[in-house]
Amino acid sequence: MKSKRTIRIGILGFGTVGQGVWKHLQADLSALEYRLGAKLELVSASARDITKQRDVQVGPGQLTDDNFSIVNDPQIDIVCELIGGTTLARELTLQAFKNGKTVVTANKALICEHGEELFNAARDCNTHYFFEASVAGGIPIIKTLREGLVANRFSLIYGILNGTTNYMLTRMEREGISYGDVLDQARALGYVEADESLDLDGYDAAHKAVILAYLAHGRWVKLEEMVVEGIRDITTGDIAYAKSLGYKIKLLAVIRRDFDKNAVSVRLHPALIAKNEIIAQVDEVFNGISLTGDVVGETILVGRGAGQDATASAVISDIADAVVALLGAPPPVISEEDEETYKALADEVQLAGPESVSSPYYIRLRVKDQPGVLANIAKVFADHSISVATMIQEEESDSASARLIFTTHSASESNIETALKVISELDISIDTPFRLRVFKPGK
Ligand code: HSE
Repeated sequence: MKSKRTIRIGILGFGTVGQGVWKHLQADLSALEYRLGAKLELVSASARDITKQRDVQVGPGQLTDDNFSIVNDPQIDIVCELIGGTTLARELTLQAFKNGKTVVTANKALICEHGEELFNAARDCNTHYFFEASVAGGIPIIKTLREGLVANRFSLIYGILNGTTNYMLTRMEREGISYGDVLDQARALGYVEADESLDLDGYDAAHKAVILAYLAHGRWVKLEEMVVEGIRDITTGDIAYAKSLGYKIKLLAVIRRDFDKNAVSVRLHPALIAKNEIIAQVDEVFNGISLTGDVVGETILVGRGAGQDATASAVISDIADAVVALLGAPPPVISEEDEETYKALADEVQLAGPESVSSPYYIRLRVKDQPGVLANIAKVFADHSISVATMIQEEESDSASARLIFTTHSASESNIETALKVISELDISIDTPFRLRVFKPGK
């Protein structure tokens, strides 16, 4: 009988995800070996502090504080980069490719910022780069896009790609807890990234949206070219008003492709979404992604978008693909030749500017409560071709000011921005106007 090849694995970063990968691989190594037809060996892992007490134990000498000893170890075939960040992680990844290693990563920021360079480097070194865990944790969205739905062109991909903010919005909605209090609770549960802005200002989800847009449309979009807005200004009042109008508020990634105009727009912002949409019902720390393909129609995936076990599940699925590639089968991704065609097609795709994006809006104003105020505001809307759909006025306790909540019919983003600027400069305005888009999948 032919003896099985042994494939050796090293892990960069022995934090939550690194330990999860080690734990699950070790627990079920023989089942994976049987399915893949290879022997697998966990060789070593790196950590900044190797003396720290950890839940997952490794054998003597298997933990090192020298990341480069893993990428330069001639025994190791697959390197899992789970250290995060974009500087050292980039260096280590490039060095691993140079040494002919296959790299598996969960690092969305790295792919978003340096994906083009890293994919090219992997190709130049005749090796592979796998990144299933970089988007939506345990949901196999990368495989779904690249393999399961390969027959499709996607007019719309949208959904919830950040679990922390989804948890916060869910609790604000269900329990009426203020933004500040729910943030404190999310921090206490360890849900919020060390750099909180990644979650709260939408950058974590924006990184993931950039990766999905690249996979679906072949074009790398820079964060500076996108609308990226977080959840910091949303109040429990907004959520309650939205509810009374039949909506929930979710932090949505929206990737729309207009095939007639050959334009794509990639955006990340909170939006009102009709509460009967499946994505609106994805609550707590869960992620959900809807993909509309020209062949399959709408497909929706919902699952755990973060956490040790869910992310380890995605990393291990990439390790399995890496093993298959190392055993000689082509990896289940776009081949080098196809990549050229894909790139040529993508080069023609234009980025849709904000002026070409329209949607209904939710607008919250705080104004002086005096005659003529509503007429003034209505005139500004009319001057900017904004048609009001609903209006709620609430008197505030001092009766000198009022809160006005409008929803509009579809209006262009630039008209809304200009109109709100004009309103904010009127002497009747008390607070800066606040607006949210109303997301409609069909529009
Ligand atoms: N902070 C992220 C989230 C974790 O809440 O979804 C994975 O990127």
